[in-house]
Amino acid sequence: VAREAAAQIAELTGAAHHDIALTLGSGWGKAADLLGETVANIPATDVVGFSMPAVPGHVGTLRSILLPNGKRALVIGARTHYYEGHGVRHVVHSVRTAAATGATVMVLTNGAGGIKETWTPGTPVLISDHINLTGDSPLEGATFVDLTDLYSSRLRDVARSIDSSLDDGVYVQFRGPQYETPAEVQMAKTFGGHIVGMSTALEAIAARQAGLEVLGFSLITNLAAGIQKTPLSHAEVIEAGKNAEGVIGDLLARVVSAL
Ligand code: 6GU
Repeated sequence: VAREAAAQIAELTGAAHHDIALTLGSGWGKAADLLGETVANIPATDVVGFSMPAVPGHVGTLRSILLPNGKRALVIGARTHYYEGHGVRHVVHSVRTAAATGATVMVLTNGAGGIKETWTPGTPVLISDHINLTGDSPLEGATFVDLTDLYSSRLRDVARSIDSSLDDGVYVQFRGPQYETPAEVQMAKTFGGHIVGMSTALEAIAARQAGLEVLGFSLITNLAAGIQKTPLSHAEVIEAGKNAEGVIGDLLARVVSAL
């Protein structure tokens, strides 16, 4: 299905291949406008296996962008979350499609909760590793894939060369869609986690299997339950994304042009 989707993308965008793919999560959408020249912007539903995003904050398009350095970027504005219940294959379809378009780098971004008290809403964090608490995997059978340096230290160094103040952290993917309890957040912290969210880890695993180099960013939209004293709300997540989108869009565009 991924090969078929990639062929459709090539036809609809006129770009025979892409070099880099980006999944833009909550708050990261502005980057698409800053990366380069948009060659084509197609509804996700025109490509097999893609559906309109169930979550507000995702635009629902696949966008082909010509970067200033001549490379082609595929911006995926349609993410399927694991909690939607369509299965993990649907979740990682975009990543496998990205690989089938010829991309060698996969940039995964999300809006997430912070466990470090020093982080404030609007802080971008480099993902250094993950803990997959979904209990699921995009891999089937005897596919014993190594996940050492999954979030490429080479690409993290590139990001740091753009912004040396970037913090990094371990991303913990929960199934959701409910936010964690304060006790679950404490568990994640004890496990060595710094960021809690509902995406990215399963996608990163599929990306590694497909041979893609992964760069991951979280936008801290709020502190996790029990870390912040006020109840969490999706409105707060969207609001934090809106407020930060200029700054993090600019950051991401500069990082991508340096890759
Ligand atoms: Cl606190 N948890 C999860 N799982 N996802 C989030 C979040 C928290 N804040 C934004 N997204």
